[in-house]
Formats: sequence, C-alpha cells, structure tokens
Amino acid sequence: MIEKPISYGHQYITEDDVQAVVAALKSDYMTQGPLIGQFERAFASYLGVEFACVVSNGTAALHLCAMALDIRPGDKIITTPITFVASANGFRYQGAEVVFCDIDPKTYLLDLDKLETILKASPKGTYKAVVPVDFAGYPIDEERLRKLAEVYGFSIVVDACHAPGGSFTDSKGETQMVGNCRYADLTVFSFHPVKHIATGEGGAVTTNRKDLYDKVALFRTHGITKDPELLEKQDGGWYYEMQELGYNYRITEMQAALGISQLKRLNWSIERRNEIAKKYDAAFEGTIVETPYRQEGIVHAFHLYIVQVPADKRKGLYDYLRTNMVYAQVLYIPAHTMPYYRQFGWKEGDMPVAEDYYTKCLALPMFPTLSDEEQDWIIEKVKEYITV
Ligand SMILES: Cc1ncc(COP(=O)(O)O)c(C=O)c1O
Repeated sequence: MIEKPISYGHQYITEDDVQAVVAALKSDYMTQGPLIGQFERAFASYLGVEFACVVSNGTAALHLCAMALDIRPGDKIITTPITFVASANGFRYQGAEVVFCDIDPKTYLLDLDKLETILKASPKGTYKAVVPVDFAGYPIDEERLRKLAEVYGFSIVVDACHAPGGSFTDSKGETQMVGNCRYADLTVFSFHPVKHIATGEGGAVTTNRKDLYDKVALFRTHGITKDPELLEKQDGGWYYEMQELGYNYRITEMQAALGISQLKRLNWSIERRNEIAKKYDAAFEGTIVETPYRQEGIVHAFHLYIVQVPADKRKGLYDYLRTNMVYAQVLYIPAHTMPYYRQFGWKEGDMPVAEDYYTKCLALPMFPTLSDEEQDWIIEKVKEYITV
C-alpha cells in the first residue's frame, strides 16, 4: 500500500546538495559570484560544448536564443505543437510568427518529413529558425536538421529541456551528446524541479558559436558589459556600458551550487530512468498500453515516460490512477490549440497527428528515486484499470 501520492516527476535533493547550498550561502556572493562560471564550465565540459551560459529558467534561455539570432517582429520560426508552450513563447517575445509543424507518430517529435514539405514550399531563408524539442528525453535527428538548414537557410535551436544526458549516434557512428551543438546552433535546457538537474528555477544555453554566446551573455545581464575589448571608451575601473536592451535573466549562486552538485548525478539519473523505463516496457508488453519508441544508438534521457492508451480509456485511467494516489499527467495539450495561439488562425484539425496523440497520451511517474514498490503499485493500478 502506498502512503503518499506519487507525482509524474520529482526532484531529488541529497545531503551533499544541501551542504553545497549552505556553503554558497556562507560565501561572499549570493549572485554574480564564482559558482555561476564554475557551473557553466562543468556543464559545458559534461556535454562537450564550447560555451554554456546558465540563466534564470528555460524560458529565458529560449528568449535569449531568439534575441541572439536577432529574431524580429514578423520573422517566422517553426516548432512542434507537442511541447510546453515556452518553446514557442520564447520566440513570440521577439514578435516572431510561430509556425507549427505536426509530429512523427512514432517518436512524438517534430516530423522532419513534414518540416521539409513546409520548407520546400517557400524560398530559402523564409524561416529564421527551427526549434525542435527533444520531447520526453528522445533526441531529435540533429544531423538531418543540419542538412535541411544548409539547404533552406535557418538556424537550429534545440529545446533539450527534457534531454540533458541523452545522446544519439550520427551517420559517422559518432556519439553526440544532446547539447554539444555539433549540428545545432544553440541548445536550451531547463533546471526546473521535475527536470534531471533541479535548481528550483534555472536554465542554460549552449553553443559552439562565440558570436551567439557573447550575445546570450550580454542579453542575460541588461545588455551591460565591462569587457575592455567591447567598451567604446574607458573612464576607469568602475566603467560599464549598456550596449543593448537586455534583461536580468541571471541565476543565483545558491542555484549554481545546486546545479554543480546535481550534475555529478546526471549519469546515474539517466541510468536509473532507463531502468525504470525497461520495467514499464516489460510490464505493458502485450497489453493495450503502447510504450515509448526505442531505437539503437539513441540514449533516451527519459524525462517523461509517455504511454498511449485508447482514447476512450485515457480519462478513466487518469482518474482511476488519481484515486489510487498515482498522479500521472497529460503532456502536452497541443500548443496550437491554446486560446493564445488560436488568435493567429491555428485551430483544431491543423495538426492531426499531434491531436490524436493528445487524446491517448499519459505520462506515468518517472523520476530516479521512484521506488520498486511504488513502480509495482503504478503498474498494478494501470493493469487493474485496463482489464476492467
Ligand atoms: C520542453 C520545454 N521547454 C521549455 C520549458 C521552460 O522551462 P522553464 O520552466 O525552466 O522556464 C519547459 C519547462 O517545463 C519544457 O518542458
């Protein structure tokens, strides 16, 4: 018998994490101190990317990417409807026109064939950016996207908020860590509590392009610089210049301390998540519960474990699980059907695969500290319902 509700995701805070935050609190800095740079270097080194800029949250990270790419009102970008709305909103903040492209029914990610059809229909350069999402932790085919980017002239911003620690194998047989930006221009992460690294609020942008990194870093702090190489003049040690209209999208030292501490457990977290996924896979084999797609050469980061059940059973299963203290979640309501996006002409029926997915999907609890007993309980309750 389970004693407290099991949510679909949950942070894991260890004594080491607590001590790291306490040490940060006892240091001379609460913000703009050494831990932020330390976190950035550790994260960049883990991913194998040149630059990481840690920021206040994943949404800010997306907005900073849009700013760094000089997205302006009316510029078009393409993203998937099966994502948290921030993937689109980060570009709307710059006035971009968001074009949704339907998903692949197997992976639930942006359908690259459909994307190509959209791209083909307009002259090169029509779309400033494509923003795929490594939904649930499954990495998008960045290599194919890069080929498309070369033909159709757009920047690639991967929303990898669900996928730190995930990887894919490219056509040369090389393993590419999500966020290493071997094929993408920019990659974005979130450190929200349900994510792999939890700093309360937090996020990061990674890139190998110094020009983009400099802009992201500048816009993160009001557009202000003290870098002698960038200053227009020098008045003295106190002197700084605001060169662009930026934001305060900084993270605190306490959050950076948490991030550094949690990054050390990221590999373990991915392994444990994959173990949990395997057990779910095996438990639902041969039932009406459709389990996530797998492919050789892909390390799924399993932020979410999404199943599909027949649409006429989904709400009943959701409710049944809740009454049994299993807080499964429906992720996501297609973004193009949100009232805000409907004002731009999007409507139900525009994205048939995404909409069909939405009627059937359910995210079962997935987090590294989910106990065997809890997982057995979840499986038992799902099976109880689907056999009634
Ligand atoms: C796919 C995706 N993109 C962006 C975000 C935004 O991240 P944050 O909540 O850190 O602003 C989230 C967060 O839930 C997300 O799941």
